[in-house]
Amino acid sequence: MPIVNFVNEKKQIQVPEGANLRKEALKAGIKLYPGINGYGAWLNEIFNCHGLGHCGTCRVLIVKGMENASPMGLIEKLRLKCSFAYIGNEDTMRLACRTQVLGDMDVVTRPPFNLTGENFFS
Ligand code: FES
Repeated sequence: MPIVNFVNEKKQIQVPEGANLRKEALKAGIKLYPGINGYGAWLNEIFNCHGLGHCGTCRVLIVKGMENASPMGLIEKLRLKCSFAYIGNEDTMRLACRTQVLGDMDVVTRPPFNLTGENFFS
């Protein structure tokens, strides 16, 4: 069974192969929804698309083990490409609700926007 390591929370969970990353994270009490850099996160926990891949707020960074994530589907690709947060994080960002865990991975939840960072205007 794959192990998902949530880096910020310092928590590891074992999940069945093929498990949905969002469902497993929420089951383990991991907070996925960021609000806007932390503000309004509690609202965001209520107002999201609940796993349809439309709101984009369950985005995470898979900093290790990206090869163990399911391939990105069309809905996820379209959603992420419409997000400023995706800029500069193309190799690591996924939507938790659209990601199946196929092997071990390290996951950073609630990555902040980097609107003034060097990657934004590149
Ligand atoms: S919960 Fe809305 S995109 Fe994942």
